[in-house]
Amino acid sequence: MKIAMLGAGFIARFYATALHSQRRKDRIHLVYSRTQQTAEQFARDYQLSHGTDDMEAAINHPDTEVVVIALPNHLHAKAVELAARAGKHVLCTKPLGRTAKEAKFMLDCVEKAGVFAGYLEDLCYTPKMLKSIEAVSNGAIGKVLWTKSREAHPGPHSDWFWNKELSGGGAIIDLACHCVEIGRNLIGKTIRPVEVMCWSDTQVHPIDAEDHAIGLVKYANGAISQFEVSWTFRGGMDLRDEVMGTEGSIWLNSFLRTGFEMYVAGNKQGYVAEKAEQHAGWLFPVGDEAHELGYPHMFSDMFDAIEENRAPMETFYDGYVVNAILDAAFLSAQSKRWEPVLLDDWRGEEATATDKASNSYNEQYDLVKKEILPNGVTKLILKDKKSGIIIQKEIPANS
Ligand SMILES: NC(=O)c1ccc[n+]([C@@H]2O[C@H](COP(=O)([O-])OP(=O)(O)OC[C@H]3O[C@@H](n4cnc5c(N)ncnc54)[C@H](O)[C@@H]3O)[C@@H](O)[C@H]2O)c1
Repeated sequence: MKIAMLGAGFIARFYATALHSQRRKDRIHLVYSRTQQTAEQFARDYQLSHGTDDMEAAINHPDTEVVVIALPNHLHAKAVELAARAGKHVLCTKPLGRTAKEAKFMLDCVEKAGVFAGYLEDLCYTPKMLKSIEAVSNGAIGKVLWTKSREAHPGPHSDWFWNKELSGGGAIIDLACHCVEIGRNLIGKTIRPVEVMCWSDTQVHPIDAEDHAIGLVKYANGAISQFEVSWTFRGGMDLRDEVMGTEGSIWLNSFLRTGFEMYVAGNKQGYVAEKAEQHAGWLFPVGDEAHELGYPHMFSDMFDAIEENRAPMETFYDGYVVNAILDAAFLSAQSKRWEPVLLDDWRGEEATATDKASNSYNEQYDLVKKEILPNGVTKLILKDKKSGIIIQKEIPANS
């Protein structure tokens, strides 16, 4: 398919690298950027037919089949509206909107126009995350009780991110959008997010928005999803996830430690990895960054979905739910209370049981805990079903 890339900055370059690598068949044919000069430079770098500083012309170009939005957050809604009006398929980077209201407007635009729309949430498509989601949905770790997702780095690379009006917020809107959607994928997208408790502060940078936040998202089935996001972290880009289920756990480190360590004594090493802060000493490069960050799998799913006339794994509806959760997080950081997630349009399960696992040991007792001690004795902690009294029972080794 022929793609119009809107934006020629940091993420547009990552997208172009992923889209044009490894003999892929979908091609960017033109790029829009704020200045003609940047557009032309990008067009030269990725061998495109041309670059323009006219967004509408890029979208409406007769050869454009798919519009990829890689623009600052305040321009997503306008670009989606124009693409929907032109009847073009549209893929939009994260966060979908600056607020749920803005995201809902974009969702309505594409649904009314009947165009394909995909939410470019790459961190749900990393090879490690895809395998984790598959393992969790196959029941490998039982019922998910808690997810924890962390994205932290020393702060973004362009002026508009630091301007609350243009970006919609600080580390919460920029980074927690990833963490929240990772949590939804692992807990189950049909499970309703109910309320959010969030702390945020501006600890380091001279800005109005938050540069650090920690939040908890409570789900209707009793699961809890934690996000930790920061623009204050020193030492590179920290992308880590943990999942705890009734039958198992998963730990992922997606960037800072990928099994690639290099020592450089001199100053010859240039770029190491996104947001890396050093070029000498012990370094932690990333082999194929676009791949580790999920871009190839993400675009494969998007273009396959267009061809197969199905929804992609990450839709505009998902982007809207994420924005609604983030709205609640912003409110909670101010009110210092749990704040409800307000979703005018909820498409998942209406009522979800908080089903607790059965722990019956025998007719009289429930099993609280079983553990083998260093001396080989097995200890059982049991709770009487009628009286509630807790006792312990020891089973000798070799019995
Ligand atoms: N992992 C990810 O998915 C990921 C990573 C980084 C950024 N993003 C998202 O991508 C979008 C763009 O971020 P970026 O890092 O590429 O930004 P950037 O500043 O590097 O690039 C922005 C591009 O938009 C163009 N532009 C057009 N109008 C503009 C305006 N009024 N102000 C500023 N730029 C304008 C610029 O010319 C530039 O080409 C944002 O929504 C951001 O959240 C996603």
